[in-house]
Amino acid sequence: MQDAGMFVAPRPAVWSQAMRSMDDFWREQAEIGKIWQLVGLTTSVEREGEWFRSTLGGRSIFVQRFKDGLRGFENVCVHRGHPLRTEDKGNGPIRCGFHHWQYDQHGRALGIPKCNEMFGASPRELNARLRTLDVANCGILIFARFPNERFHEPLETYLGPGFDILRSLWSEGRSPYIWSTELKANWRLGHHISLDDYHIVAVHPSTFGKNGYLPQEVVKYYRFGRHSAYFYNADEKALQKMVEDCRNGTFQPDGYRIMQFFPNLVASVSPIGSACLAGIMQYVPVAHDRTRLFMIIQDYPRPAADQSRSRALVRRLKLPIILRSAQLMTRKIFKEDNAVCEHMQAIVHQLDRPPILGRQEERIGWFEENYADVVGDLRPSSVAAD
Ligand code: FES
Ligand SMILES: [Fe+2]
Repeated sequence: MQDAGMFVAPRPAVWSQAMRSMDDFWREQAEIGKIWQLVGLTTSVEREGEWFRSTLGGRSIFVQRFKDGLRGFENVCVHRGHPLRTEDKGNGPIRCGFHHWQYDQHGRALGIPKCNEMFGASPRELNARLRTLDVANCGILIFARFPNERFHEPLETYLGPGFDILRSLWSEGRSPYIWSTELKANWRLGHHISLDDYHIVAVHPSTFGKNGYLPQEVVKYYRFGRHSAYFYNADEKALQKMVEDCRNGTFQPDGYRIMQFFPNLVASVSPIGSACLAGIMQYVPVAHDRTRLFMIIQDYPRPAADQSRSRALVRRLKLPIILRSAQLMTRKIFKEDNAVCEHMQAIVHQLDRPPILGRQEERIGWFEENYADVVGDLRPSSVAAD
């Protein structure tokens, strides 16, 4: 733990650079797209042939289920660049709507109308291929990245202890409630606020902040790999214990826990009365000043051993009400957080000094260290850093 207010962003010049210009945003996203990121759920692609469209590193992509598993491709036809998928989801072969080039499960253009006549070669001789993605899943969560030299660890290694936790919380889809909204601000401003426990009194006075600031002794932060977590009222070993319990299928949530996976994923677990909810939140970058915010909530049944029949029945009856109130509260919290981010985006060209981060904002510093490491040097900023 650092002293309050002692953290200084490692590279102040890039702190707000990609928040200000589209050119810098694309440069940033080209690097960020090399890191594993959540792109969708296996529940959307259960049957062979099913696909969904998503976004990775600011680029349109799609993931499809084939006989031998899931594959992902950049959503750009190699002929003249038309998107292959123009809807959010569907089922069927990869056939471009512009000139009907058709691709196989490896992304090879093997069905090209009038190929010899038009191109003087057979499809195999042309050897045109889609750009493929690395794809892996953890429970029902599908992650992807653009293959690259620098970041090639398997998903399990990348998520570290978080892999077992996510796999346990999201082992199957139980009619997840999925909601999305637009944030008119940069994705990092959105993600920063999820790493900040200091704003709750000013921004969420009727919910998280109604009892005042969190006493420092109940705030426990963990750092693992590029990721971090906040557990309410937990000890040094609570993260390791949670991993072991998740692995053994015996995890019993006893307090609010939130984990931030670099770069843009937030996973939480909240015991509420007799129920427990697992949540996923993701800030998907769209432009330097625009982000799509996704929220997924579903029931996380505690291990059956500890559930008497009567408790299980009460839980089942109360669950729809708990889910509904969680949805309403989540929307309210987002609205409050998003207003802050949008106010900052309006003056983002003036954010030319690094922030001063206190103890309950410490994880923003951890996040920014990773950001600087992954993104590297952006073009020198036109605004001088202090
Ligand atoms: S652009 Fe796709 S077939 Fe022509
Ligand atoms: Fe907030």
